[in-house]
Amino acid sequence: MKLIVKHCQKLSGRISVPGDKSISHRSIMFGALAQGKTEISNFLMGADCLSTMACFKAMGVEIDNTAGVITVSGKGLDGLQEPAEVLDCGNSGTTTRLLLGILAGQPFFSVVTGDHSLRSRPMGRVTKPLTQMGARFAGRKNSTLLPLAVQGMPFLKAIHYQTPVASAQIKSSILLAGLFADGVTEVTEPATSRDHTERMLQYFGAKVDTHQHTIAISGRPVLTGRKVTVPGDISSAAFFLVAAASIPDADVTVTGVGLNPTRDGVLEVLQNMGANLKFFNRRVVAGEPVGDVRVQGGTLKGTVIGGDMIPRLIDEIPVLAVAAAVAQGKTTFKDAAELRVKETDRIATVARELAKFGVSIQEQPDGMIIAGQQSLTGAVCTSHGDHRIAMAMAVAGLLASGETVVTGADSVDISFPGFERVLNSLIIK
Ligand code: S3P
Repeated sequence: MKLIVKHCQKLSGRISVPGDKSISHRSIMFGALAQGKTEISNFLMGADCLSTMACFKAMGVEIDNTAGVITVSGKGLDGLQEPAEVLDCGNSGTTTRLLLGILAGQPFFSVVTGDHSLRSRPMGRVTKPLTQMGARFAGRKNSTLLPLAVQGMPFLKAIHYQTPVASAQIKSSILLAGLFADGVTEVTEPATSRDHTERMLQYFGAKVDTHQHTIAISGRPVLTGRKVTVPGDISSAAFFLVAAASIPDADVTVTGVGLNPTRDGVLEVLQNMGANLKFFNRRVVAGEPVGDVRVQGGTLKGTVIGGDMIPRLIDEIPVLAVAAAVAQGKTTFKDAAELRVKETDRIATVARELAKFGVSIQEQPDGMIIAGQQSLTGAVCTSHGDHRIAMAMAVAGLLASGETVVTGADSVDISFPGFERVLNSLIIK
């Protein structure tokens, strides 16, 4: 599928975006491990979350969709069944790494795989600590790549793991295995990554304590199914917020969006770049901060993005790179080597695709340097099968002269079905 985007002078309106991907995955997984029913509203029906749903159905979990509310009939900590089929995580790193943490604690055998991109992404970062806890893995390259065979163990050993990478997927995988361990499992990360797992597990009744960068979970809790309303995904809202901030005559409000402080780095960076942001209706829903965000367009200025900020906006870097290209002055992204192991190598793909618009980017091993005030020329570019690259290039198309064609745009369905419709609703011709 192709996405065709024309230069846009004016972007205006009030929109909502689909449910948060990270929270949607967790609501299915934790609902499955809880006792009783979990009812999920505003669940993201994107391909990644559908992969999570299919994996849990394959382990005997009943998941029902009635009038847009997803009901998970929880099996309790010991109720999952051995899957007779290979668990296919599709394109989803979150499904894979969190699922591996759960499978580590099961008294059965399973096999996990995914698509071409996922089969090249690093899994040793979770199989290593999960092996220390007692699970057994077999797979290519010393069990660091999918497909992986998993022999779980019902009584895992609680560990204290110091992860070298600030990653919510690694942290969550170990914490989920910790549900099946005797005693307290602890993870220390170098910087705070998104804390949806900690918030939702607590909401379901687990004992989770956070001290600075260390998170501790007590094993064998009783989890109880709850009602979950998934906030709008700030990573999806980011495409419109960044576009609006970069178009002088824009005025866009995104309602009901997640404002978790471990995820809102894109908003802080836009403000540092001089964007005009206002917040309304701040509230907490199912343990997660939510609100409405209004952006009025202007001219952005360059900035430096690195350090502890990176995990707070890791998925928003491709679209922030687009804003950096038109901003006044230089923008530097550093400490972001993790971008190289996402759905694509997002440093290389951003540099390669923005070059087609005439943007010059200096690639660094852990980031990029982008000279500002570059004028973009409409281009034919490709997503490389990466949903966030497809949508970031659509935003580049709004800022570029003439017409832009994004090929491989069906990948947007991974996280944002309906992206094109929402985008078109904001474009004032
Ligand atoms: C996610 C964590 C992030 C993010 C991904 C979703 C999650 O990955 O990039 O899109 O839901 O936990 P890492 O934790 O590996 O940085």
